[in-house]
Amino acid sequence: MENIIYLDNAATTFPKPQEVYDFMHEFYQKHGVNPGRAGYDMSIETEEIVYSTRKMLTQLFNGTDPNYLTFSYNASDSLNMIISGMLSKGDHAITSTLEHNSVLRPLYHKQQDGVIEVTYIPFDEKGYIDPDDVKKAFRKNTKLVILNHGSNVIGTVQPVGAVGAYCREAGIPFAIDASQTAGIIPIDVQEMHIDIVAFTGHKCLMGPTGIGGLYCSRDIDIRYTRFGGTGVRSADRLHPAEFPHRLECGTLNIVGVAGLHAGQNWLQKQGMPQLHQQEMALWEKLRTGLQNIDGVTTYCATSTNNQNAVLSFNIRGWEAADMGTMLDVDYNIACRTGLQCAPLVHEQLGTDKIHGTVRLSLGPFNTESHIDTALSAVADIAAIKR
Ligand SMILES: Cc1ncc(COP(=O)(O)O)c(C=O)c1O
Repeated sequence: MENIIYLDNAATTFPKPQEVYDFMHEFYQKHGVNPGRAGYDMSIETEEIVYSTRKMLTQLFNGTDPNYLTFSYNASDSLNMIISGMLSKGDHAITSTLEHNSVLRPLYHKQQDGVIEVTYIPFDEKGYIDPDDVKKAFRKNTKLVILNHGSNVIGTVQPVGAVGAYCREAGIPFAIDASQTAGIIPIDVQEMHIDIVAFTGHKCLMGPTGIGGLYCSRDIDIRYTRFGGTGVRSADRLHPAEFPHRLECGTLNIVGVAGLHAGQNWLQKQGMPQLHQQEMALWEKLRTGLQNIDGVTTYCATSTNNQNAVLSFNIRGWEAADMGTMLDVDYNIACRTGLQCAPLVHEQLGTDKIHGTVRLSLGPFNTESHIDTALSAVADIAAIKR
């Protein structure tokens, strides 16, 4: 692990800020009790951290009611809740070919069971969805538009505000998968007309794994698909319908919530725009460097506008997996190869036929020297088959 160059931040950001590790440790030692279930001080203090984290994340998305910020295990869990809780027999959904399997698979299952129909909007040669294509796909029975905000393969950030405006006009609920954007790209649910934001804690929000959630606007009706203990109205036979209990059951991952809390404090101190700028300056160095190496093909990497610090490439004559092994074993560079759980992106790029791409993804702790090392490693590997 010593001296590893970690360029797999789209999988999970690593390391986390020291403040996050410290706060989680201290919080669990001092307040590791069940929140909101009892009236003793420790339980109340734990609930205070949970509520203040709901508030912080609601503010991050410019939402209005922290009770509509609910916690889950991760983005996949939230996306499953959205798709199962909003689509019924005979409904139509619109999504894109940029999606991660955590959107695609819940949709495929419903499609395979003959419950719903789905339209998949392709992206253009630069990696962006045209909002007009989404609008053209609207049908009378369209009950959900669910769209990737930032691609985990090519890093492009979609024009969700324009899509949101069309959805609002048509009265169609609009959800975004903000797994790669929450914490680094501004999300304003009011200005962008977004009804639901699904997020995960362990990527740009700088929290740990095992915690995620969704923010939902007050007038969106997600049916609850899970039931259990909530600490409130225990005599009722049915699960409480009100938020946040509606979408939460059982004991919360309070250490995870504490990590998100500390992550928010850290992000606020750094400044999200500054962090994004810092990462994109490195991404630009990486992009131009890779594009200058003979034999390297990058995918949809054109400019720093509407872009996250994720970059996919291949080298002529090489299998992505073999390049990944060489980068790891010979250069101590950690990256991800293959289809990155987003098979339709690769189908559209044609990279499914060559077993995917090598993906390098940057985080707040990467430096210029990491990029220099990565570029010289790729140049060495490319030279072998020239
Ligand atoms: C775009 C996108 N959506 C969803 C997910 C799923 O996130 P999680 O594994 O935290 O559920 C990921 C994770 O890589 C992702 O990149």
